[in-house]
Amino acid sequence: MKKIISVLLLGVVICTFTFNSPALAADAASGAKVFNANCASCHTGGKNLVQANKTLKKLSCY
Ligand code: HEC
Repeated sequence: MKKIISVLLLGVVICTFTFNSPALAADAASGAKVFNANCASCHTGGKNLVQANKTLKKLSCY
């Protein structure tokens, strides 16, 4: 019984590290693509070129 559990756990660990990390990296890469294509014209560098006070930066007081 213990052996089965450790084999299952090992499987979960392998799947987590093997499959999730590249997927997350790809998400970040395509997110950057989407942002550069659709948002960067007005939000270059996280700023707002149209309405200067509506930046994409998080408020620091939270
Ligand atoms: C045509 C220019 C333009 C484009 C393109 C644009 N935005 Fe904006 N964005 C604005 C303006 C102007 C505001 C401020 C609107 C308001 O609240 O009056 C704003 C506000 C925002 C806010 C809220 C900021 C705050 O402090 O309330 C977010 C988040 C945001 N934009 C994200 C995006 C994302 C993500 C994209 C791309 C999918 C994008 N914007 C594309 C002009 C643009």
